Amino acid sequence: KLIMKQHPLAQYLDAVPDFPKEGILFQDISPLLRDHFVATIDAMSLLFSAKEWTEVDYLVGVESRGFIFASALALKHDKGFVKVRKTGKLPNVHASMEYGLEYGTDKLEMQKGDGKKVIICDDLIATGGSMQAAAKLCNEVGYEVVGMACLVDLKALNSFSHDGMAVRSVIQFDD
Ligand code: PRP
Ligand code: MG
Repeated sequence: KLIMKQHPLAQYLDAVPDFPKEGILFQDISPLLRDHFVATIDAMSLLFSAKEWTEVDYLVGVESRGFIFASALALKHDKGFVKVRKTGKLPNVHASMEYGLEYGTDKLEMQKGDGKKVIICDDLIATGGSMQAAAKLCNEVGYEVVGMACLVDLKALNSFSHDGMAVRSVIQFDD
């Protein structure tokens, strides 16, 4: 087995077996948020160069755990914050996007964009369904997606890329 050097923050993930159901190993980010929040946000910030950051206008957060990272990064880089919300929560919805869950589908919604450049943030990518829906939605409402960032990418569960633009992540699991 290939041993990859993992980011030091990976040691603070709490891997919970059989949550929320049997056979699922849940990667709980709670200890990172409580005890290592600044280091976690700094690590996500370093996923993009100084030049890349200057070209970004807004951070887009995917409800609900994505809000944590998008808002912290927006504050750190003096950018605005934009929400991708689950269905029925947002007034003046401009577009909705259905995405697949293990059983059935759910919907994400956004208000109208203004043509500016965004980075989409979430805590974790599993199948990639949420991030992919968020990216399509951003394009549909009128934002230019220049990057996608997450704290944890469960790479074995997705083959994620969107128009050739890969998701950047701090911690990756290949199995
Ligand atoms: C989790 C997680 C990601 C998504 C990842 O969110 O926060 O957003 O699932 O899964 P995917 O790559 O297979 O789409 P969830 O919808 O459980 O809700 P929450 O963020 O509100 O806790
Ligand atoms: Mg989520």
